[in-house]
Amino acid sequence: LALDFPRLEPASDQPLVEQIAGHYRAAIQRGRLRPGDRLPTIRSVAARLNVTRTTVQEAYRRLSETGLVAATVGRGTMVLGGEASGPDSVFSPSALAVQSHQSTALYTPPLGTEVRVPLAELMPDQVLLPVEEFRVSIERVLRERGAELLVYGTPAGHPELRRVLAERRECADLACTPDEILITNGAQQGLDLVLRAFTSAGDAVAVAVPTYHQLLGLLHAHRLELVPVQTGPDGIDLEDLARVVARVPVRLLCLMPTFHNPTGRSIDRAQREEIMELLASTEIPVLEDEFQRELRFAGEPLPSLRALDRRGLTVTVRTFSKGLFPGVRTGWVQASLELLAPMIALKRATDLESSPLLQAALADFVSGGALDRHLASLRAELAGRHRAAQEALAQHMPAGSTWSRPEGGFALWYEGPPGLDGDRLADAAAARGVLVIPGRVFDPAVRSNPCLRLSLSRATPAQIREAIAVLGSCADQLLRRQDQSWRPSFL
Ligand SMILES: Cc1ncc(COP(=O)(O)O)c(C=O)c1O
Repeated sequence: LALDFPRLEPASDQPLVEQIAGHYRAAIQRGRLRPGDRLPTIRSVAARLNVTRTTVQEAYRRLSETGLVAATVGRGTMVLGGEASGPDSVFSPSALAVQSHQSTALYTPPLGTEVRVPLAELMPDQVLLPVEEFRVSIERVLRERGAELLVYGTPAGHPELRRVLAERRECADLACTPDEILITNGAQQGLDLVLRAFTSAGDAVAVAVPTYHQLLGLLHAHRLELVPVQTGPDGIDLEDLARVVARVPVRLLCLMPTFHNPTGRSIDRAQREEIMELLASTEIPVLEDEFQRELRFAGEPLPSLRALDRRGLTVTVRTFSKGLFPGVRTGWVQASLELLAPMIALKRATDLESSPLLQAALADFVSGGALDRHLASLRAELAGRHRAAQEALAQHMPAGSTWSRPEGGFALWYEGPPGLDGDRLADAAAARGVLVIPGRVFDPAVRSNPCLRLSLSRATPAQIREAIAVLGSCADQLLRRQDQSWRPSFL
């Protein structure tokens, strides 16, 4: 039985139930409570916190709703996953679901965090969304073709949207035809379909790490083994990639060549060519996640890996989520007909198709020029936000810090001097209203590292400067405390 009790913040706006649930959620997600551990009894928590049992019961119910714990008859409330959630549990989601949940090392800010500057999610800024122009597109397609768009369409996607996308300049280097595009429910479904189409349970998948944390959960859900390929400021470690490719029978290589999540960095042209050279004698398919490709505000456009792959074995996953709206849940996959066919079949089998109405509205919006107008102003805005961040980082962060200099996208990667712990820095900043994600979340093998991901998509340049000043002062404080703890005790 884990004797781990929350500390309530009486002044917090957060209801007691949420404070209690949040405490245990964080304890499970950070590994303080492990699969098989039991939460303290409802009665003991109620007594310790001086709250009613119903309050604690409700908190535990919320945790069990998300599959983190299960109430077992006679054995209390147990953290799920591993052996202990075996067949005698009254309720147990599949081991796979639990593993997938736990393998995504989410970061939960401390209780009572009041967000002043949100630098956590890669989410577009609501105030910049072209809502009005999208309303016009929806209304137009509904008026002109409503009935046709409110019945079933086709699994590969609405022909009009596929045509419009194939004609876009950004797709041009891929010499893409509408038939080589599959519309998906966001890039996330694109990733899922590629994994379904090219791998089977137990296969090894090479992934450049650090990486997008929701890819990690997806790999677990497909029972795939992640084989890490190291990356750094100079891009992919090509020697590591060569070793991985030669050693294990890798079934797929996952890369994010442009404005990578979490670092914001891009693989330069020479390295893109080297990667393809290295793969030339293999038949390993490449999944390139180009989720922010259209968000370039500096530098020259780079060829996609698909354009450089003479074997024709690269699949590109793209999305409207960052350059436009995530709420339309629309992305697409670009690949040769041969590679796309099994994915279209799987798309039909899993959710039939994406919404014809939304796809037609997006086609109208893109072909009328509204997307390009929006992207032009978004790129300019992002350039200003990144400029503010670069200046503020140079001004406020402690000696020994480094950071990426992205030429596009929302994300920026900060690496502190050795010994600075990203989780503690994120917690300290959250306590002062600045939300960021610690670097550990993006690498399954790492317990702690001195890195942070900053998303600049939802804060103004002034807010970014203010937030980075806070990060700098928190980092200084943590480093000072660390210095003191090294002092011999007789001083
Ligand atoms: C690298 C990466 N790929 C895919 C996605 C999923 O995007 P979508 O909203 O289009 O499903 C995200 C979302 O943040 C992402 O960061």
